[in-house]
Amino acid sequence: MNKSIEQLLSISKKDTRNIIGLMSGTSLDGLDIALCSISGNGLQTEINLKHFVTIPYDDQFRNELELISSKKTIDLQQLCIMNTHIGIRYANLINEALHSWGIKNSEIDIIASHGQTIYHAPKQFHQKSDFYNSTLQIGDADQIAVRTGITTISDFRQKHIAAGGEGAPLAAYGDYILFTNQNTNRILLNIGGISNCTYIPKNASFNEVICTDIGPGNKLIDSWVKNNYEKLHYDKDALIAKSGKVNYALLNSLLSHSFFSLPVPKTTGPELFNLDYVHDAIKTSNTKHLSNEDIISTLTAMSAIAIINQIETLNKNDNSNEIIISGGGIHNPLIMEYLQNNFEQASFKTTAELNINPDAKEAMLFALLANEMIAGEESTFGTGSTSMPNISMGKISFAI
Ligand SMILES: Nc1ncnc2c1ncn2[C@@H]1O[C@H](COP(=O)(O)OP(=O)(O)O)[C@@H](O)[C@H]1O
Ligand SMILES: [Mg+2]
Repeated sequence: MNKSIEQLLSISKKDTRNIIGLMSGTSLDGLDIALCSISGNGLQTEINLKHFVTIPYDDQFRNELELISSKKTIDLQQLCIMNTHIGIRYANLINEALHSWGIKNSEIDIIASHGQTIYHAPKQFHQKSDFYNSTLQIGDADQIAVRTGITTISDFRQKHIAAGGEGAPLAAYGDYILFTNQNTNRILLNIGGISNCTYIPKNASFNEVICTDIGPGNKLIDSWVKNNYEKLHYDKDALIAKSGKVNYALLNSLLSHSFFSLPVPKTTGPELFNLDYVHDAIKTSNTKHLSNEDIISTLTAMSAIAIINQIETLNKNDNSNEIIISGGGIHNPLIMEYLQNNFEQASFKTTAELNINPDAKEAMLFALLANEMIAGEESTFGTGSTSMPNISMGKISFAI
């Protein structure tokens, strides 16, 4: 038998596996590296975050990613080069992180690499009747495997699409494993570049779970800041937004996009929610005179209100539902203030209160997907559904 397959088989039989989850979302802020110790599988899974770091991208790398991300026309040679380059960059960052934690590469069983999404095109977005839901993540996992010496599982989204889904959001699987509760309906909200949520009714089977993108999380705020303030990448602590005023004409125009009235589940990305979208809304609402501060204030309100509207629809007037938040948006005090003012204090918390680091959660969810891929059982996700099929996701890259 091929030695790598033999090794994978023995990893799948281990009681506890060391799995590194990697995540870099549409914010292009940095690479999240979450080293998890995972035992068991399915609803019996226990996950323990041993180490976590977000390694921020330098300006050059962020610009290189921006140039090929979410645009209809890009330089094809650059795309080809970046696929390799990102894989090498990830491998180097993992090697450095392991070194700094005093952990040998040989102690790690698996790397789960999400890759960098460079385009997300569900059918409802591209509207080409003869074509399918599509999405593309790059950052070659063979580079990661060869340069770290660790078997790497990657490209999780394609199988989801092959089975009928939109390739996103995949949070439902890990959220269901980690957060299903006998007594409480739970809504897991992640505020990244794009915001998404998973609604898990109490004692639910997997096909009762609803997982959907909501709209822009931090992405529009980040984009407006990057474009208008030299050297800033985001509105740290919402200082700019707090110095401006919400403009309601612009706010209403932003919220009038047809995406918000589509039924759930639905997925989206910066292909839709980008600066063109903001400029169009400014034009329609006749608000060209607004200051950057007022625009950023309005974009922040818009992200929060889109989230509130979506959660209220899912809540169906049941205010006892627990809302559990993660992602970079929890560090934006203004977004959090909007949400806090709207939802019952008792049922509103971050994942930290359930012992899951809110910045590490998404990377941990991919570590869980990899764990299911090598050690999961079909029964965990029951019959699944079209938008959340019961399948194992990811492709395997061996180090040798
Ligand atoms: N202190 C802060 N103040 C305001 N926004 C913040 C703060 N810290 C992080 N963020 C926001 O969180 C984003 C990163 O969130 P993240 O969950 O990593 O998103 P993604 O999954 O898209 O990479 C940053 O780009 C920024 O917009
Ligand atoms: Mg990030």
